Amino acid sequence: MGKDVIIACDFKNSIETLNFLDKFTDEKPFLKIGMELFFAEGPSIVREIKRRGHKIFLDLKLHDIPNTVKSAMASLSKLDVDMCNLHASGTITMMEAAIEGLTREDGTRPILIAVTQLTSTSEERMRSDILIERPIDEVVMHYAQNAKVAGLDGVVCSPLEAGKVKEACGKDFLTVTPGVRFADGDVGDQVRVTTPAKAKEIGSDYIVVGRPITKAEDPVAAYRRCVEEFVG
Ligand code: C5P
Repeated sequence: MGKDVIIACDFKNSIETLNFLDKFTDEKPFLKIGMELFFAEGPSIVREIKRRGHKIFLDLKLHDIPNTVKSAMASLSKLDVDMCNLHASGTITMMEAAIEGLTREDGTRPILIAVTQLTSTSEERMRSDILIERPIDEVVMHYAQNAKVAGLDGVVCSPLEAGKVKEACGKDFLTVTPGVRFADGDVGDQVRVTTPAKAKEIGSDYIVVGRPITKAEDPVAAYRRCVEEFVG
């Protein structure tokens, strides 16, 4: 599986998204579509972007009873997305059901990755709100291992955790990592960040990059710089 840069298309609607994509004439970047855009535009935006030849990571973070997740994943599989995700806290049973739903008749399926603990969740909140007493690193690694047991392909994590995830789950277990910034760029609201070059060194398989590309004066140049640093 090749390393790649995924652009986070955190746009409000299809007009903004397609205007942004029109800037790319020579390349077809891998794109992440999140809840904001998907809930605003529905599956038609996925179809339109696929029609234009891009790969899509549909970031909807499913979490429900196994049967519902299985059916929902079957719908996403028909949409022909290339990557999708769920919350590992839904249990191994839910993750196994997701794989079942996602797998097409010919045995192919989109890449499925798990969210462990959201980076917005602190250890303190885990303890007080959801009664998880263990250290957050242990919880993240345990959830990653559960995802591996259930047959998932990898996890979303900080580039700074990618090395540890590979140690715990094997080098072929994918790490998809947001929180990437250029060395000379704006950090914005991200706290623990790495450069594309550093993410490559640590062993991320895919980096998810939003604002450093979408808000750049020249998004195509920023994308190329990311690819140059990360893929080489
Ligand atoms: O603009 P920026 O590069 O910060 O965008 C990163 C993308 O990755 C956003 O879509 C954000 O929601 C997502 N993400 C993240 N941190 C996580 C999980 C997802 O930044 N832990």
